[in-house]
Amino acid sequence: MRAGFLTDPRPLLRPLTGLLVCVVLAGILRNYPRYLPPDFTSDFLLGRDADFYGGYQWAFYAHLAAGPATLLLGLALMTAALRQRFPAWHRPLGRVQVAVVLLGLVPSGLWMSAYAATGAVAGLGFAALSVATAACAGLGWRAAVQRRFATHETWMTRLFVLLCSAVVLRLIAGLAYLARLDADWLYPAAAWASWLVPLIAHETWLVTRRDRSSDRQCE
Ligand code: HEM
Repeated sequence: MRAGFLTDPRPLLRPLTGLLVCVVLAGILRNYPRYLPPDFTSDFLLGRDADFYGGYQWAFYAHLAAGPATLLLGLALMTAALRQRFPAWHRPLGRVQVAVVLLGLVPSGLWMSAYAATGAVAGLGFAALSVATAACAGLGWRAAVQRRFATHETWMTRLFVLLCSAVVLRLIAGLAYLARLDADWLYPAAAWASWLVPLIAHETWLVTRRDRSSDRQCE
């Protein structure tokens, strides 16, 4: 029987996810001219001039460089067609990805979490995301070195899901804006939901797929 969308949504979801990541990323990059030099009237930097010229500016600019790079590298590494066409590129690009995540994105995200615009709950959400992101990158890298490639793929897919939290967060903010929702709890809740909801959905999908394939083996 041919697999339909309900039994295997991946052939449709993958290109849609790629398109969504690129569109949202273009929106993120459109703000960059307001960050260099810093424009303290821009949405994100508004009221941050007091903190900015300490350590925050270093974390901020490292994050602005690392964030889009990890999303684009993640897209390239996750695309099966690219892996098949350029197999020699997967390993060096993967090394760069792990280095940028562990040395750039995670420490800068962790530092910025302490100054999260909407307070401690959001800050904790971003800090937990940093730890989860570092764990997935580290465990995925270790599995690759030990040549446990199925485990490597599992951790690196989780890593990509976590990187996509940056996209999900902007989608939540965009939808809230369209719905004219402006509650105080919204952004702190979104800081957690932007990574926990996709991660739980992904893990649920993995378990369902495993159950289905073990059912098929028993038939
Ligand atoms: C997955 C780990 C990540 C963590 C822990 C993280 C953490 C953070 C934190 C704490 C802030 C400041 C939020 C605030 O003060 O309210 C921030 C802002 C930002 N992040 Fe991330 N981030 C991550 C991934 C990414 C990715 C993949 C991108 C890719 C585009 C990205 C791009 C940005 C940008 C551009 C800002 C500045 C605000 C803006 O222009 O929207 N981040 N991030």
